Amino acid sequence: MDTLHQIMLLCRPGFETECAAEIMDITSTTGFAAYINAKPDTGFVLLISAEGKDTTGLISEIEFDQLIFTRQWFASTEKIDHLPEKNRATPLADRARQIAEQLDIRFSDIELSYADTNEGKALNRFCKSFRPHLQNALRQQQLLSGESRYRLHLFFRDSSTAWLGASPLDNSARAPMGIPRLRMPQSAPSRSTLKLDEAINWFFSDDEQKSWFRAGMHAVDLGAAPGGWSWQLVERGLLVTAVDNGPMDSALMQTGMIEHLRTDAFTFKPARNIDWLVCDMAERPLHVSRLIARWFTLGYCKAAIFNLKLPMKKRYQSILECRQLLNRELDNAGIKHRLRVKHLYHDREEVTACLTRSIDHR
Ligand SMILES: C[S@@+](CC[C@H](N)C(=O)[O-])C[C@H]1O[C@@H](n2cnc3c(N)ncnc32)[C@H](O)[C@@H]1O
Repeated sequence: MDTLHQIMLLCRPGFETECAAEIMDITSTTGFAAYINAKPDTGFVLLISAEGKDTTGLISEIEFDQLIFTRQWFASTEKIDHLPEKNRATPLADRARQIAEQLDIRFSDIELSYADTNEGKALNRFCKSFRPHLQNALRQQQLLSGESRYRLHLFFRDSSTAWLGASPLDNSARAPMGIPRLRMPQSAPSRSTLKLDEAINWFFSDDEQKSWFRAGMHAVDLGAAPGGWSWQLVERGLLVTAVDNGPMDSALMQTGMIEHLRTDAFTFKPARNIDWLVCDMAERPLHVSRLIARWFTLGYCKAAIFNLKLPMKKRYQSILECRQLLNRELDNAGIKHRLRVKHLYHDREEVTACLTRSIDHR
């Protein structure tokens, strides 16, 4: 059996079934025979090679950004347990060396992780204090190199049990454990603001943001009150039409960048075609998808970020249906586009989608 014969996938606890169904769907299209080991509410899923084969090819072949429910992943060893309390670094660095030799690689970085559960989060301090010991052991074995395409991962179940492995830097989450560190802005009217901030940073690189979000652009925010999403757009210099029967934050209104219309989002038509549509309403996901598709096919907007609330059951299936509907409607209208969907860290029972027309926006 190869050393890295499985893939560790981290997800929001409670979404293991969706994470597993999605990775199995995608893996089956590659012809790689695999099965799943997952338990509810653990915050992780293992995809295991049915033939004990190395998964580093697979983890490069599958595009990480297309995964909705996976926050982070790495090609992984078997679980390593009974790590000695007095010196965990030596056996782990030895295993890292085996991987490095087998794949003929070194590691540019280390990511120490744990499940996003109460049990997992209790390991944060341990990971922080263990990190320098591991760093030192890896340095002594000359396993670190800034040139490397790979990051070394350790996922701790408890302080004596871990999975170890590697992921390509260019095909995995940039933020450790796929959890971005975002600051809650003091003047933002609601915590929802973090969802749009995370979405913009997830779907667009810093460079892309410069062309996709420019001062003077026009946006419509459907279901805008009290204004957390509008706040993010105003911060980036966009002029916003906020559609909601509820009240908008008065400080935000005083920026002069917002027009507030108390009307129904589903019947509202913009007075002119705009750049951005954003939408954060607790509505049926297919209903929202139809609304977004209509805005695109009527040419009202060039790009949209919107939430799809997940039903209690068949959450993955529901997203597939929305994706199908949007792709079909835009294809039928001859609109070249890109649709991406992600279960972001700040999303709970919902996912965030980003739909953009394929045009040069610069
Ligand atoms: C989750 S809140 C939006 C929070 C907002 N994105 C923020 O960051 O502050 C959902 C909003 O959608 C509005 N809403 C729901 N259905 C609507 C409809 N049909 N037309 C307009 N607004 C609607 C509600 O009034 C509510 O204010």
